[in-house]
Amino acid sequence: MNSNKSVNYKENTIKFFDKMASKKHGDSFKHYNNVLDWLDLLLANEEYTLLDLGTGKGDLLLKIIEKNKFLKLIGLDISSEMIKLAISKGISANFVIGDSEAIPLKNSSIDIITCINSFHHYSNPEKSISEIARVLKSNGTLILGEIWILPIFRNIINFFLPYMKTGDYKIYSCKDIIKLFSQQGIILVEKKYVFPSNYTYLLKKAEVK
Ligand SMILES: C[S@@+](CC[C@H](N)C(=O)[O-])C[C@H]1O[C@@H](n2cnc3c(N)ncnc32)[C@H](O)[C@@H]1O
Repeated sequence: MNSNKSVNYKENTIKFFDKMASKKHGDSFKHYNNVLDWLDLLLANEEYTLLDLGTGKGDLLLKIIEKNKFLKLIGLDISSEMIKLAISKGISANFVIGDSEAIPLKNSSIDIITCINSFHHYSNPEKSISEIARVLKSNGTLILGEIWILPIFRNIINFFLPYMKTGDYKIYSCKDIIKLFSQQGIILVEKKYVFPSNYTYLLKKAEVK
């Protein structure tokens, strides 16, 4: 990890996204079609509960609910301003201010987690993954959307991230993602490249026998 202990990534993240809540930011929407396509294949049971981790303004949940009326939806974000905006849209979901490192949900309570363009802000990625693994049911699904950059540029950007005020912690390679998650029993099923600089990953928590 490029951990720089003197940088408070979490505080920077909260400040940055509280400020960005009222502005147009990022290209997370580029992952949404992949998420919706995979959900079409996955959803057989109308009792499913889906957590959108790092939900921001709830835009993905809005898209999901248009197609899947029966899902129980939860949106969690560390930025209170983002959550305020999400709530103001009247989306039928339960919105919570919270941290990926301490998800305020019960063990094995979630069928599907979506996490779009948020994971690279998590300054303790192993702890966040252990929380994802804890709340996911056995055989549950994680759909992760992350930035992807060619190695040479990724190394340069990662070098400069600690000096930026955006709270970005690390841009990962596909290999990094697969390794980090598989170490905690969350295994890659499929990944889709999203032009020009993203991957959406479909992962599954290994079945607990
Ligand atoms: C680039 S935005 C993406 C928002 C949303 N997923 C979307 O599709 O538009 C990243 C979001 O992750 C949230 N975030 C960052 N670190 C977090 C953490 N440790 N726990 C929960 N949310 C976090 C930020 O506050 C921000 O709203």
